[in-house]
Amino acid sequence: MSQQPQTLTTESGAPVADNQNSQTAGPGGPLLIQDQYLLEKLARFNRERIPERVVHARGSGAYGRFEVTADVSRFTKAHFLAEPGRRTEVFARFSTVAGNLGAADAVRDPRGFAVKFYTEEGNYDLVGNNTPIFFIKDPLKFPDFIHTQKRDPYTGSQEADNVWDFWSHSPEAVHQVTWLFGDRGIPASYRHMDGFGSHTYQWVNAEGAAFWVKYHFKTDQGIRNLTAEAAAELAGADPDSHQRDLVNAIDAGAGPSWTLKVQIMPVAEAATYRFNPFDLTKVWSHTDYPLIEVGRLTLDRNPDNVFAEVEQAAFNPANFVPGIGPSPDKMLQGRLFAYADAHRYRLGVNHTQLPVNAPHAATARNHGRDGHMATNPGGRAKNYEPNSFGGPYESGAPLWASTEVSGPTGTHPAPAHAQDDDYVQAGDLYRLMAADEQVRLVANIAGFLAKVSRDDIVDRVVGHFRAADRDYGDRLAAAVKELRA
Ligand code: HEM
Repeated sequence: MSQQPQTLTTESGAPVADNQNSQTAGPGGPLLIQDQYLLEKLARFNRERIPERVVHARGSGAYGRFEVTADVSRFTKAHFLAEPGRRTEVFARFSTVAGNLGAADAVRDPRGFAVKFYTEEGNYDLVGNNTPIFFIKDPLKFPDFIHTQKRDPYTGSQEADNVWDFWSHSPEAVHQVTWLFGDRGIPASYRHMDGFGSHTYQWVNAEGAAFWVKYHFKTDQGIRNLTAEAAAELAGADPDSHQRDLVNAIDAGAGPSWTLKVQIMPVAEAATYRFNPFDLTKVWSHTDYPLIEVGRLTLDRNPDNVFAEVEQAAFNPANFVPGIGPSPDKMLQGRLFAYADAHRYRLGVNHTQLPVNAPHAATARNHGRDGHMATNPGGRAKNYEPNSFGGPYESGAPLWASTEVSGPTGTHPAPAHAQDDDYVQAGDLYRLMAADEQVRLVANIAGFLAKVSRDDIVDRVVGHFRAADRDYGDRLAAAVKELRA
């Protein structure tokens, strides 16, 4: 489509006469301070970067829709899930975790799977990963864990010593580490992986009955992964492989989709379930709680501007809508604080007014005001509540149900249920893998673990894998020994 060229302007809209030559004192002289166009352009350029996300910095986003395909209204009163056929606009962002902005996509790392549902009752953000579990179960450990994944303060590189030292002291990580070093540890693209809410959340129906729920997005493209060797080659040849794949697929009209299923646990069963249902390092057995279909997530529109819409996207696990709420999972509780705090730092207090973050199907009405870059959509309206001038008022209806608590306050570890230990599910996962995947798993772990400089760390790590499954640990010990010989 040809467009009539328009005059280039300054930030204030005045025409630019020359965009090739800056102003000088005479043809060969120094620059002039009156060349405000040059100064504005250079100063503006210096300010193009904002702080990147402290984790999940590298990612790709797209718009689409969520369509309900099965009736789940007996479990939740959430309006956007109320009946088959109901459609809700979404924005999704996928990411790697440890790499900085600009890092290669084809790496062994969990993938973020964040979905913002623009519902008529406000935005609902489900901020998960492509793994049903996580490395730790207490948010107090998160900054330390991430420090070990990022660059060492002295060497400036990721260090095997730090990664494995932390995991050697965190037996609860052995399940997720087994997952990460298995075949699904390097997805071929964002389209070819599943997504999970990972945490347990609460659903509440119209009668006020509560359920515990886990979300599973099953890829309709099929699971496809890269081997360590193929990924190393691709990461060098095309560091933007995931980004390119997603943009191209959507541009070609082949946007990806996922079928959303949930596991539902009646609240009364939580206390006696064999695993602590709020422990993020554990899954719920699908035999105990089978998958129930909910709907389909489809992505079909690329953002026009990656910075405005992807870099500035703000997903917040604390953004709930009526009928959905948090569980007592300590990790989730920590996250309920962390994200909005990160957004206020990274984007500013008015980030919720940016088009990608603002509600699309609802209106934000409150008395939050001012701050940097405020557009103050409230305009001249009174900025306090209660007021006698027609201002918005509280609904009186809590979004989710309350939970029973008991016992003294204190630094309690997550309670262990009958079959809970840190190893049982890691061993199950290992034994579930086909023989050839077990070989690749052991080789992948050994290749990294062999780089550790201290035997005590290696021994401690091997001990955890041995506790998960004797054969797993023995094979790992032998493989590391061979590589270190
Ligand atoms: C206590 C544990 C955790 C803390 C404190 C934490 C904190 C953070 C922070 C500060 C960000 C950057 C947010 C931003 O600047 O926009 C982030 C991003 C993210 N986190 Fe977490 N995180 C935790 C655990 C998890 C877990 C368990 C998952 C998955 C189940 C997860 C998934 C994500 C995703 C997908 C993003 C990127 C969101 C986006 O695309 O913008 N995080 N996290």
